[in-house]
Amino acid sequence: MAYNLLMGKRGIIFGALNENSIAWKVAERAHEEGAIFTLTNVPIAIRMGDTQILADKCNTVVIPADASNVEDLEALVVQSMEILGGKIDFILHSIGMSPNVRKGRHYSDLDYDFLAKTLDVSAISFHKVLQVARKLDAINEWGSVLALSYVAAQRTFYGYNDMADAKSLLESIARSFGYIYGSERKVRINTISQSPTPTTAGNGIKMFGNLLDFSERMSPLGNATADECADYCIMMFSDFTKKVTMQNLFHDGGFSSMGMSFSAMEQYNRGCEDEEPDHKFD
Ligand SMILES: NC(=O)c1ccc[n+]([C@@H]2O[C@H](COP(=O)([O-])OP(=O)(O)OC[C@H]3O[C@@H](n4cnc5c(N)ncnc54)[C@H](O)[C@@H]3O)[C@@H](O)[C@H]2O)c1
Repeated sequence: MAYNLLMGKRGIIFGALNENSIAWKVAERAHEEGAIFTLTNVPIAIRMGDTQILADKCNTVVIPADASNVEDLEALVVQSMEILGGKIDFILHSIGMSPNVRKGRHYSDLDYDFLAKTLDVSAISFHKVLQVARKLDAINEWGSVLALSYVAAQRTFYGYNDMADAKSLLESIARSFGYIYGSERKVRINTISQSPTPTTAGNGIKMFGNLLDFSERMSPLGNATADECADYCIMMFSDFTKKVTMQNLFHDGGFSSMGMSFSAMEQYNRGCEDEEPDHKFD
């Protein structure tokens, strides 16, 4: 059901790779709600993925940009304002990538060049997007900027590796920049901490299926889907959340407030009776 929540608003959506991507669902919902926006991704993802199909569905264009490259971001923001006919009202940063995860490096044996890349692409790119937008004065008053995070920023999750450090930094950038952009120009900046979700990035996490199942059993409302995340993003881009800023907003069916659920305990009992704890790390 559409409510015209974003009628007249202009946006930029990063990170739609294929129909499983959270950004893909956000773009579909934003289109339904009356927004106009540009889509962007790295050139290789545009070539290998389906971003152009989404653009055709949403009557828009795809502008290639590496989110870790400031010149690319400047061109993206300037072109987006030209194409959309004015300043921007919302931005979705839906980007994550860790070469250490991809190459199977253990957290106690990280490649530091890879770590720098993880932090640059997955977190510092958010600062770059905000800094470029602010210097170009590209965001309207009461604009809303969101990035997607995960609870591994606060608590340790087996296999999440250096992406946990990237998410901590990402959430910190939302607070630090949120203060500046909010007080100067009334732009709000938040992160949404989403349940594990079966996407290309999600499936890259070690034993992702088990994480998904554990999280489902631990969450009173069950895992939040990508479609539900899109609904939440739309609400955060809308005028109904004008005074929400500098927050990390959990969208996880209650997972982040749980310790142990009956369902997880039952499964644990079935699987681990009489076994000694195993303190190996991988
Ligand atoms: N899937 C999950 O379980 C989950 C849970 C919580 C948060 N998130 C976060 O949601 C966001 C979106 O991920 P997703 O799960 O939809 O997976 P996805 O693989 O569909 O999206 C990740 C996107 O990042 C893009 N990207 C990678 N490097 C880039 C760069 N240098 N510049 C621009 N774009 C780049 C990829 O091309 C891809 O489109 C990520 O921040 C991810 O960490 C995912």
